[in-house]
Amino acid sequence: MGTKIKMMSAAVLTSGMLLSGAATASGASADALGYTCAGCHGFNGSSKGPATPSIAGASQEYITETMKGYKDGSIASTIMGRIAKGYTDEQFALMGEFFAKQKLVVPKQEFDAKLAKKGAKFHDKYCEKCHAEGATSAEDDSGILAGQWTPYLEYTLSDYHAGTREMGKKMKKKIKKLNKKEGDAGMEALLNFYASAGSK
Ligand code: HEC
Ligand code: HEC
Repeated sequence: MGTKIKMMSAAVLTSGMLLSGAATASGASADALGYTCAGCHGFNGSSKGPATPSIAGASQEYITETMKGYKDGSIASTIMGRIAKGYTDEQFALMGEFFAKQKLVVPKQEFDAKLAKKGAKFHDKYCEKCHAEGATSAEDDSGILAGQWTPYLEYTLSDYHAGTREMGKKMKKKIKKLNKKEGDAGMEALLNFYASAGSK
């Protein structure tokens, strides 16, 4: 395992260095950086694997801040912490610029229509204020939840719960309220609502 990790960070560092060199020469840095993420996040940031989030269409600000969080460890990760360490804040901003311009392709996921309907109501009540337009808007810099992979959202929510990803005070308050008033069924309904975006 140790060897594997070492090999991987060496590869990431090397590609990072090559790219920043190429970027200075050609000026095509945002695209070039974006392509290094394609293997996992999909060619244009729409992921095909349920454990890897889609990042297409997220705001530049959201992507930049999230990358910084992975790098300094304030956002828990399985893999992104190691990847983020190979890059500078300027490069994060370029990656953000690239993916913010890509169009999100929303995957079809299974969901329960009844729960999704309930979830839409909970969303309006507890989440819409910051995750605007049914959690489809990038403009609020809060992350797009509609059409995001459910397994990824579940991992992330458990990271927030465990405290390995910092949660904003106001969101924490709303999640607490949701849990208190609706029980576990509240988040289940919300996840069904976000998954239903692929069938619209
Ligand atoms: C080896 C696979 C892999 C590669 C390569 C990769 N990612 Fe990721 N990415 C993930 C996974 C998995 C997650 C979920 C967090 C975790 O467990 O690390 C993630 C999460 C993210 C997130 C958070 C999304 C959200 O909704 O909050 C962003 C932003 C991101 N990656 C950007 C990038 C960028 C930019 C690159 C290219 C420099 C990149 N990733 C390369 C696998 C990868
Ligand atoms: C006061 C504003 C606010 C409210 C209300 C809020 N959020 Fe958030 N949420 C944010 C912000 C800002 C982020 C991104 C940065 C972070 O992790 O704090 C975020 C991130 C998230 C993420 C991670 C997204 C990703 O791609 O990794 C999830 C999941 C999430 N929120 C779910 C919810 C749910 C469900 C509700 C309603 C019960 C909710 N939020 C209510 C502000 C809010």
